[in-house]
Amino acid sequence: MADGSSETKSSNQMWGGRFASGPDAIMEEINASIGFDKKLYAQDIRGSIAHATMLAHQGIISAEDKDKIIHGLDTILSEIDSGAFEFSRRLEDIHMNIEARLAALIGPAAGRLHTARSRNDQVALDFRLWVKEELQKTEKALTGLIAAFLDRAEEHADTVMPGFTHLQTAQPVTFGHHCMAYVEMFGRDRARVRHAIEHMDESPIGAAALAGTGFPIDRHMTAKALGFREPTRNSIDTVSDRDFALEFLSIAAIAATHLSRLAEEIVIWSTPQFGFIRLSDAFSTGSSIMPQKKNPDAAELVRAKTGRVNGSLVALLTVMKGLPLAYSKDMQEDKEQVFDAAESLELAIAAMTGMIRDVTIRADRMKAAAGSGYSTATDLADWLVREAGLPFRDAHHVTGRVVALAEQKGCDLADLPLAELQAINSAITDKVYGVLTVEASVASRTSFGGTAPSEVRKQIAWWRARN
Ligand code: ARG
Repeated sequence: MADGSSETKSSNQMWGGRFASGPDAIMEEINASIGFDKKLYAQDIRGSIAHATMLAHQGIISAEDKDKIIHGLDTILSEIDSGAFEFSRRLEDIHMNIEARLAALIGPAAGRLHTARSRNDQVALDFRLWVKEELQKTEKALTGLIAAFLDRAEEHADTVMPGFTHLQTAQPVTFGHHCMAYVEMFGRDRARVRHAIEHMDESPIGAAALAGTGFPIDRHMTAKALGFREPTRNSIDTVSDRDFALEFLSIAAIAATHLSRLAEEIVIWSTPQFGFIRLSDAFSTGSSIMPQKKNPDAAELVRAKTGRVNGSLVALLTVMKGLPLAYSKDMQEDKEQVFDAAESLELAIAAMTGMIRDVTIRADRMKAAAGSGYSTATDLADWLVREAGLPFRDAHHVTGRVVALAEQKGCDLADLPLAELQAINSAITDKVYGVLTVEASVASRTSFGGTAPSEVRKQIAWWRARN
């Protein structure tokens, strides 16, 4: 021991005073978190520097000890950064690995760092800092994805495609409009991210084990130094709260669900049967046996990652649901779920942004499909209401007969001779042909948020001003 105390080597150097022997090997294995919480080293060191600075400012430790501590922590930061640091499972977690190394580097002054602090508020701080940074990264990534969609929407504000309900051709829409639907979805995800950052912007350090401390600490000072808006208000809640992690996972699960729906559309659209898009070589793979194939693997993996992210959310909800206040070791299981979900989400957003920027839109195929399946039948019914004064229900019935006739003759609505249309309803004139094309159909949908190119361009402008 650096401070020369007399514990046996096998008992823990942090709490060995109370323990006669070290842990069983299995105990060490189940207990240790260093394998994954080493990811928090930079946050742990930043938190310790803020804490030590505050302790010295408040006269709780001396300025010399503070300087030694900070110097030692800086050394450890570069040791870990460079890969020279040796992590030890015997030291359980990142907090004790760093503290033990600090003791080896600077001697007894290291033992003063943990004054007025517990690993309970320390881990809450480290993890919060990490999640906050991850949310900031996610916000940027979503902004990039939204930008990619805005560019494609602008390019294809006039490109007509079939709109679907039940994956059956419903009404013609524009591809730009369809892109903007995703902008709305990812825009909501980003709003949730921003809200979560605000929500979690409180500093846990100084809650100590659960009850606060008798030392004259200044939690406002550490909160400010660490970039938080303010300190948390209840020390019990502080060490038992993992809402910030759950919020991250909920947001990630909803975003991953959006990405999965998009992935599904990419998979469908890139089939030869649909042929709406052609994926770039950069975002597809070939088959080892079938030379003609080009597979949308990236989209499929984005779709699949959603399973992991949703699983992480359910896992942490389940860990938390039975825990009495305040800290329990169960909470150590929070980190791997968040780390895994964060990695999956980051990758999925990046892959999607790449695919959307790269994909070739086959406007000819989209347009051909848009006109099939009597997609302008609603336009005919609307025309009968507008021009012939029919009640919509009657117009619907008349149009149904027109569609049946076209089906029987195997032609499109626009190919039916006027005389045959008039035999169904005498109020029909040749002006009706003006609304039966897909272009006329989309151009007419000028209601707020509708698919008309003019309306889609307004929505693009609205988002451009906010992205
Ligand atoms: N490794 C622990 C975790 O991740 C740190 C907190 C330990 N606190 C304690 N009282 N044992 O949760």
